Amino acid sequence: MSMDNNQTPKRAHWSSNIGFILAAAGSAVGLGNLWKFPYLVGQNGGSVFILVYCFFALFFGVSLILTEISIGRATQLNPIDAFNQISPKMTWVGIMVVATSVLILSYYSVVGGWILFYLYKSLVSFGADADYVKVFSEFTSSANLQLITFIIYFAINYGILALGVQKGIEKFSKIMMPALFIILLVIVVRTLTLDGAMEGVKFLLQPDFSKLSAKTVLMAMGQVFYSLSLGMGIMITYGSYMKKEDNMIASATSIPIIDTAVALLAAIAIMPAVFAFKMEPTAGPGLMFNTLPAIFSQIPFGQFFAFIFFILLFFAALTSSISLLESSIALLIDKWHFKRSKAVAISSAIPFLLGIPSALSFSILKDTTFFGKSFFDAMDFLTSSIMLPIGGIMTCIAVGWIWDKGIKSINIKTKLADGSETISNSYTFNAPLKEITNHGKVEFSFLSAWIFLIKWVCPLGILAIFLDNL
Ligand code: PHE
Repeated sequence: MSMDNNQTPKRAHWSSNIGFILAAAGSAVGLGNLWKFPYLVGQNGGSVFILVYCFFALFFGVSLILTEISIGRATQLNPIDAFNQISPKMTWVGIMVVATSVLILSYYSVVGGWILFYLYKSLVSFGADADYVKVFSEFTSSANLQLITFIIYFAINYGILALGVQKGIEKFSKIMMPALFIILLVIVVRTLTLDGAMEGVKFLLQPDFSKLSAKTVLMAMGQVFYSLSLGMGIMITYGSYMKKEDNMIASATSIPIIDTAVALLAAIAIMPAVFAFKMEPTAGPGLMFNTLPAIFSQIPFGQFFAFIFFILLFFAALTSSISLLESSIALLIDKWHFKRSKAVAISSAIPFLLGIPSALSFSILKDTTFFGKSFFDAMDFLTSSIMLPIGGIMTCIAVGWIWDKGIKSINIKTKLADGSETISNSYTFNAPLKEITNHGKVEFSFLSAWIFLIKWVCPLGILAIFLDNL
């Protein structure tokens, strides 16, 4: 691979490895953990789903994160140029993953606006309104409120990105991630001490294997993928800001661990309360905006807990949404040497414009459908169910099969002191492996497992999710 960065101003880097881990974990920990994971657990048999999820987070999650980070750090480039360096024939994959993240940002920011609205509600009038299903539908069907909250959320996202990699993303992640963890623990303690909470704990801990089905497995696998922000080049971009001497294997392992821990805590924070109040664990997407506010309105100091809960959601969503724009910002800086402020402004334009019809999908544009779905749902379906899996499969193919002609096993002869030779089976020390092990300085005990997963298991697994989505 040739690198021609002579003209470029020095590339931004994380100031520390922990800064990288928190920023990447910040991208991973989001609405997927706090909103989607608990309701998927509720709908898919509780503890069985959790077990399957942890299994995939460990095997798939670690391997795929490592794969993406290695591309980023090796090339020190945005996803489009990075895929182009692996093979010019793969440039389209880079373009697609950057497009995916921009499209996701457009509707993710609409949901970010919903969180701001509930945050405001929890300050002024939580508990007074009895029917939360109505509160939610009235809010989403108000075009003005949808636009205002979307614009405020988008502006905050913009502000953090404009501050830069170290002063914006890294600094905010270092504050928001620990805060998020502490708040979550406070809420867990509150729910576990509710009368009747133990029913919910049982639901989360006692596996009922009769609930295990192919559907559960596919759902869990897809959720691992979404929750770790994989398949859209984010970890490539974040990896490209990593220093060459940092230990990539340790980081790639800690991100899924943090992400899974937050998802589990979120389930422990929510499910016992749902059981204590005899609500439906299978409520689905409405769990967060309908069921939870109803619960908060009934417990002592509920308004306070509602407020900190929505702060938690806000932080989680924000550290994810800032990551969604960083690939296109990096692209503008790498390719055209734009100043960061200008790159942020230009790359914000498309997600902002596309966010408007998403925000209006529940009011003015309610009856305008694309392939039978509202604009908001169509965007979600196109990105999560189609573009993300394709991005994921292609990333595995790029690293496992194409980059440096794939990873091959060879026999290595070693001469022993007495002059005899032993032959051991090893792998050619080619590009991906050199990058992951810092040119052999870091030991990688699961090398063969990783190679097998990246070449075969992960792409085929993602293909199964993809076909199931369709
Ligand atoms: N991983 C995020 C979450 O769990 C969602 C996300 C997906 C964020 C894609 C960024 C990109 O909510």
